[in-house]
Amino acid sequence: MEIRIAANAGFCFGVRHAIEKGEALIEEGKGPLATLGPLIHNPQEVQRLESMGIRSYDDYDDITEKSVIFRTHGVTPAVCEEANRRGLTTFDCTCPKVRAVQKLAEKYAEDGYQVLILGDANHPEVQGIVGWSGDRAEVFFEPEELQRLNLTGQKVCLVSQTTEKTERFESAVEILKDLDLADLVVRNTICAATRDRQYDAGKLAREADAMIVIGGYNSANTNKLVNICQEAGVTTYHVEIAADLQASWFDGVNLIGLTAGASTPDWIIREVIDKMEELTMEQGLEQGYGTLDPL
Ligand code: F3S
Repeated sequence: MEIRIAANAGFCFGVRHAIEKGEALIEEGKGPLATLGPLIHNPQEVQRLESMGIRSYDDYDDITEKSVIFRTHGVTPAVCEEANRRGLTTFDCTCPKVRAVQKLAEKYAEDGYQVLILGDANHPEVQGIVGWSGDRAEVFFEPEELQRLNLTGQKVCLVSQTTEKTERFESAVEILKDLDLADLVVRNTICAATRDRQYDAGKLAREADAMIVIGGYNSANTNKLVNICQEAGVTTYHVEIAADLQASWFDGVNLIGLTAGASTPDWIIREVIDKMEELTMEQGLEQGYGTLDPL
């Protein structure tokens, strides 16, 4: 059996930057640190960070640390203000690409545009962007929902959650172009790291007999990769850790594709590969490798 890894898989630049910054702050003696919500959407990595002194909370009232990190997905201005009001030292680990979307939402909302965000209204990144628009942005999940918004005659600015799928964004643009708007500004804010991971996952899924996608069950970008592989018509398994793998998945499989979400650390990917080797060796299957570059 050949294990082939997608050319772009695992930690993106924004997540790596946030983790490295958190680790550096601890090394410099600036810990212990708190985060409001997990720094990234990967429970095992969040646990590792906690053991280093970076702890995740759901509520400001529970924080006992003197310093707080704003996480990769970004936070609302209200969350920043509350940290200042409480006298907490703040460190901003918002991914620069998410920060750029927040700034767009702020600018266009101030200029009188109806900001529209394609994405999941319950995701912290989207909630942060809405906050920067002064809570004036509308979030929609299905492009068709745009038909129901009364946008005629309005100035509209369209942005996207960074982890969205390009096809869905393009559908939204087409729908908006057909409406009678005073102005339409389209900013495709889908992150290139996301786009590359999605493209490579789809390409590999079309070649492989089965796909393994590694990442947090709560990770939006990992779930999108699962979705893309399934849409390619291949049997797809979503695992968080090596222990989730099952030997029966490899029966009769010649080429297994492997990809991982942008918040999946290298050490988990390695553990999954090691476990795959172990399971297939137990079955007496021959090993072989494709791309190993990303690790
Ligand atoms: Fe940032 Fe893109 Fe990663 S928005 S957190 S670099 S997926």
